[in-house]
Amino acid sequence: MINIAVFASGTGSNYEAIMRFFKDNPHPDIRIALVVCDRSKAKVVHKAFKWQTPTVLVNAGRFETKVDYEKYILTKLKQYEIGFIALAGYMRLIGSTILDEYRGKIINLHPSLLPAFPGIDAVGKALDAGVCLTGVTVHFVDQGMDTGPIIAQQAVVVDEHDTHESLSEKIHTVEHQLYPRILQACALGEIYVNNNRVYGREKIREI
Ligand code: GRF
Repeated sequence: MINIAVFASGTGSNYEAIMRFFKDNPHPDIRIALVVCDRSKAKVVHKAFKWQTPTVLVNAGRFETKVDYEKYILTKLKQYEIGFIALAGYMRLIGSTILDEYRGKIINLHPSLLPAFPGIDAVGKALDAGVCLTGVTVHFVDQGMDTGPIIAQQAVVVDEHDTHESLSEKIHTVEHQLYPRILQACALGEIYVNNNRVYGREKIREI
């Protein structure tokens, strides 16, 4: 059994898309076993309650250092025997404490076609830049900000009338469709990273 933890700080619509996907397509070897959230008021906490996923709510401000904060999370990941991590709107960089234990076992979802528009508000940055195409990227996590090896990308057309809200909605629709499938393939090891190269991408065409 591969136990997956979803790290989220916000709305949690992608967490919910993951839950729906595995409800509709149960996999005998995969379980969403934990939500890790760093904001007590985040909507994802209510969603996790609704779906009955055990949740670790962790207040970074209570720890002296990032290392201490991540060591605490690591004890929880061990306790729930977590083998794979999906970041879904987690608004912190993963530090070496967690990364060293889960190298090649953490993926992230970003609302742009990386390497364009890394960091916060990628949708706003795309609108400001006046691009015709933006999209969604799923990548393995390294120590950088949205810099790890790219697994999958899907383009989203920016229309002239698009607002932040309408473009975010289009991007979310693509994310909800793409991320759970990629997560499944990565957690099963069908898609993996070695020496910064991603293997098994042909799997994406099947899913
Ligand atoms: C998504 O757009 C994702 O790409 C980004 O954060 C957002 C999270 O949305 N990393 P939600 O909380 O899953 O609704």
